[in-house]
Amino acid sequence: MKITIVGAGAVGATCADEIARAALCEELVLLDIKEGLAEGKALDMMQTAALVNFDTRITGYTNNYAASANSNVVVVTSGIPRKPGMTREELIGTNAGIVKSVIQNLLQHSPDAVVIVVSNPMDTMTYLTLQNAGIPKNRVIGMGGILDSARFKCYLSQALGCSPHDLNAIVIGGHGDTTMIPLIRYATWNSAPVSSFLSEAQCKQIVSDTMVGGATLTKLIGTSAWYAPGAAVRVLVESVVHDQKRLVSCCVALDGEYGQKDICLGVPVVIGKDGWEKIIDFQLNEQEQAQFNKSADAVRKMNDILKT
Ligand code: NAI
Repeated sequence: MKITIVGAGAVGATCADEIARAALCEELVLLDIKEGLAEGKALDMMQTAALVNFDTRITGYTNNYAASANSNVVVVTSGIPRKPGMTREELIGTNAGIVKSVIQNLLQHSPDAVVIVVSNPMDTMTYLTLQNAGIPKNRVIGMGGILDSARFKCYLSQALGCSPHDLNAIVIGGHGDTTMIPLIRYATWNSAPVSSFLSEAQCKQIVSDTMVGGATLTKLIGTSAWYAPGAAVRVLVESVVHDQKRLVSCCVALDGEYGQKDICLGVPVVIGKDGWEKIIDFQLNEQEQAQFNKSADAVRKMNDILKT
């Protein structure tokens, strides 16, 4: 098994560290445009192998896509992150050019890879990838909803005083502060609806905290987060590598599902060895469907910028 990660910055390096520690592949390639960065981070991580006991061989290169040849999974984290006060959407101009060329280079050497898109604005970058990759839609997965769902569970567990492991909760829609939809109606604690334990005001607060979960971190850290994004990518890679059929929220191409077409948006999907295998219909009520449609409108506006 071979995995390549493009972008050896905060998120890319954390993904690599998570993947190596979980022993998900024999070979892991880290690429970056910045001279020496991927080489250095790969070497630093290799020097943890004797301490944390993994056998993955991690190598880093500057723009050497030949080294990524025949990867089974490729992860795209290259691009600029947001700064405090910025929305993910403001990154589109710079990141679209980067993602387009990176995808082209990757697929030239690994035409059969499952592609995981992380760069923001992720929904639009996933759509851009799908438009340019020329590969089956099931092999293009945007990472956003799984991270937002983890943040949702974090806030829920704090309010409930319970372990996040005992929670089921999912965020669908766009991966933006105003476009994501934490589905509180579906959130459960050991199969009991969380609304049985929390007041309406608490539920509302948790939903709004989740929606600005990324922005809260950006304000605190000065740039966007990396630990939870890295762990979220690892879960997706693990589900592909071990064909786990995990049901998680990811950004995928919709063709009529959830009432939308010609767009990539976060929905519950099953992830296995071939990428996303199935979209699960959560039977949204009228209000949730209206929110989903609004989210799609906002993401579609972003996608339209690509055409100009
Ligand atoms: P970073 O600035 O730490 O790392 C980005 C890396 O990409 C840099 O090392 C840079 O040299 C490299 N890069 C730029 N252009 C490149 C190119 N053409 N080829 C190869 N490498 C290139 O940024 P960070 O924090 O790692 O974030 C990366 C991206 O991931 C950002 O767009 C950020 O907004 C996004 N992100 C997405 C999340 C999600 O949930 N989808 C969560 C967190 C971040």
